[in-house]
Amino acid sequence: MTEQTLILIKPDGVQRGLIGEILHRIEAKGYEIKAMKMLDASEELLAQHYHEHVDKPFYPSVVEYMTSAPLVAAIVEGDRVVEGVRSLAGATDPTKAAPGTIRGDLGRSWPGDSIFNLIHSSDGVESAQYEISVWF
Ligand code: CDP
Ligand code: MG
Repeated sequence: MTEQTLILIKPDGVQRGLIGEILHRIEAKGYEIKAMKMLDASEELLAQHYHEHVDKPFYPSVVEYMTSAPLVAAIVEGDRVVEGVRSLAGATDPTKAAPGTIRGDLGRSWPGDSIFNLIHSSDGVESAQYEISVWF
């Protein structure tokens, strides 16, 4: 069965005009965009999406970041796509993310509490199914 994952191009990616660049990297790798939309994330959607993080100290800054501008949600498909897009995205901290990755090439640290790291991608097949149901 072909696998699917959920990506979000986060508000910094949209604001910096990197939607095309990020989608290009995913398509150039060979994965297929199956659905896509731009929306303003509500706090309710974010709480579902980030249910593992809602009680963490950094969660309020995540909400502030993720509601600061529209984001793009997309379903991406291909064999082992969950692992593959995580690899394309790179490490959470964009300063440490390896060059060659989306976060490593296009991201950096900025003043403030939020980690602006351009893209979300599901971290497992089960979380991908869940996150697709949250956003689509
Ligand atoms: O996005 P990823 O799966 O790489 O990281 P995570 O540990 O699941 O955290 C989700 C998101 O919360 C990160 O991408 C950051 O935007 C944010 N975060 C943060 O602002 N401060 C932290 N200490 C950890 C995560
Ligand atoms: Mg995560």
